[in-house]
Amino acid sequence: MHFMDGFLCRNWYCYCLLRNWNRKEMGEDMRYLTFALGKGRLAKKALQMFEQIGIGCEEMKDKDSRKLVFVNEELKLRFFLAKGPDVPTYVEYGAADIGVVGKDTIMEENRRVYEVLDLGFGKCRMCVCGPESAGELLKHHEMIRVASKYPNIAKEYFYNKKHQTVDIIKLNGSVELGPMVELSDVIVDIVETGSTLKENGLAVLEEICPLSARMIVNQVSMQMQTERIRKLINDLKQLSSCKTGGE
Ligand code: PRP
Repeated sequence: MHFMDGFLCRNWYCYCLLRNWNRKEMGEDMRYLTFALGKGRLAKKALQMFEQIGIGCEEMKDKDSRKLVFVNEELKLRFFLAKGPDVPTYVEYGAADIGVVGKDTIMEENRRVYEVLDLGFGKCRMCVCGPESAGELLKHHEMIRVASKYPNIAKEYFYNKKHQTVDIIKLNGSVELGPMVELSDVIVDIVETGSTLKENGLAVLEEICPLSARMIVNQVSMQMQTERIRKLINDLKQLSSCKTGGE
């Protein structure tokens, strides 16, 4: 045998040993950890964060791909994109172990999931908005009409917090139209920069709560995959504290 053959054999053997050891470390039979990400800006930001802690997914970068589920075989991770309101559903039923979605959706859907981390991006506020004149109606607890994409949040706020009886009308978007075309007196909606309200002659009348992107976890996965999920949470926490520290 040529001496080079011996060299290659030895190195191949070392490579195999190391690879086996690495696999054992990670748990070779480790099952996939599945992530459901709310489509759009939140998913993009979440994937950037995941990449920074070393759990990226190359497959997802291919813009032309028609795939729905993306896999990182090495780390046994699966990712899929879903409509925001569906993310807590996938997580509650265990179709995804982990979800990234806005706090607004978590509150509205009210699913049985653990909310484990504020990811610190996608910051905005849930507010009662309308023309300034509607402020008086709110103050005197008048029977008013409230239009919203978030009827459960509106109900919780008006019925349980303010103890005010209101008529809630569900809309699916462009909610600002409500008071403008006299469908409703006020709206319950997300305010980020405030420019949509301003451009349409509306204002924030009451603030319900602050919002941002959150990580949610399936309740069984949290018990069965505690170590992996804890590590993920800690790495993400460290990443955001590093950022704040560095700024
Ligand atoms: C959201 C929200 C407001 C707007 C607030 O709407 O419902 O309309 O953004 O943002 P701003 O304070 O920065 O102006 P989105 O763009 O999601 O569309 P939608 O109206 O169809 O829900």
